[in-house]
Amino acid sequence: MGAIFTSLERTLAAGVVLLIIIVLLVGAATGQMTKIDHAWATFAMRWLHVLSGVMWIGLLWYLNFVQVPTMPKIQPVETRTAITKFIAPNVLFWFRYAALATVVTGLLLAWMNGYILQALTLQKNFIMIGIGMWMALVMAFNVWFIIWPKQQQILGLVEATAEQKAKAAPIALYASRFNTMFSIGMLYCMVAQQNMPV
Ligand code: HEM
Repeated sequence: MGAIFTSLERTLAAGVVLLIIIVLLVGAATGQMTKIDHAWATFAMRWLHVLSGVMWIGLLWYLNFVQVPTMPKIQPVETRTAITKFIAPNVLFWFRYAALATVVTGLLLAWMNGYILQALTLQKNFIMIGIGMWMALVMAFNVWFIIWPKQQQILGLVEATAEQKAKAAPIALYASRFNTMFSIGMLYCMVAQQNMPV
C-alpha cells in the first residue's frame, strides 16, 4: 500500500488501473466489450468533463467553505504566510487550469452531442444546458480575468502597492462568492439536460 500511497502520481496511476480492471470485469460479466465509436468517445469526453469540473468546483468550494473563513482565525498572524505563500498559489494553479479544462471539455462535449449552437443560442430543448454553459463560461471568465489577476496582487506574485492590494481583496472575494452562488444553479442545469425531451 505504502508503495502506492506515498506518491500522488502512483495513486493516480492506480486509479486508472482500477478503472481498466472494472471496465474489463464488467465487459466479461455482461459479454459486452466497450466499442470505441462516437458514442463511446462522447461518453469518455463527458467523464473527462466531470473530472475537470469536480477539480474546479471542488477547489472553489474549498476556498469558500474552508480557506477564506479559516484565515482570520489563524494565530499568530505571521503563520498565515504558510497559506498565502505556499497553499494559495498552488490552489490557484490547479483551480484556473481545471476551469480551462472544464470549458474545453464542456464545449467539445456539446459539439460532439451535436447541439453546441442550439445550446449557446438557448433554443427550446437545449435551454437548460445552454443556461448552464453560459453560467459556467461567466464563472470561468471570472476565474481567469478577475480572481487570478487580483489574487496575484494580493499574494505578492506581481508588484502591487498596499493600496492596490487593499482594493483587490474585496473584488477577488466577491468574484469568488459570485461563482459559488452561480455553481448551485449551473450544476442543476448541467445534470438537467439528460432529462429534457429532444
Ligand atoms: C463552460 C463550461 C461548461 C460547458 C461548456 C459544459 C457543457 C456540458 C455539456 C454539453 C454537458 C452534457 C449535457 C447532456 O447532454 O447531458 C455537460 C454535462 C455535465 N457537466 Fe458541464 N459544462 C461546463 C461546466 C461544468 C462545470 C463547471 C461542472 C462542474 C462540475 C460541470 C459538470 C457537469 C456534469 C456533472 C454534467 C452531467 C454529466 C452527466 O449527466 O452524465 N460542467 N456539461
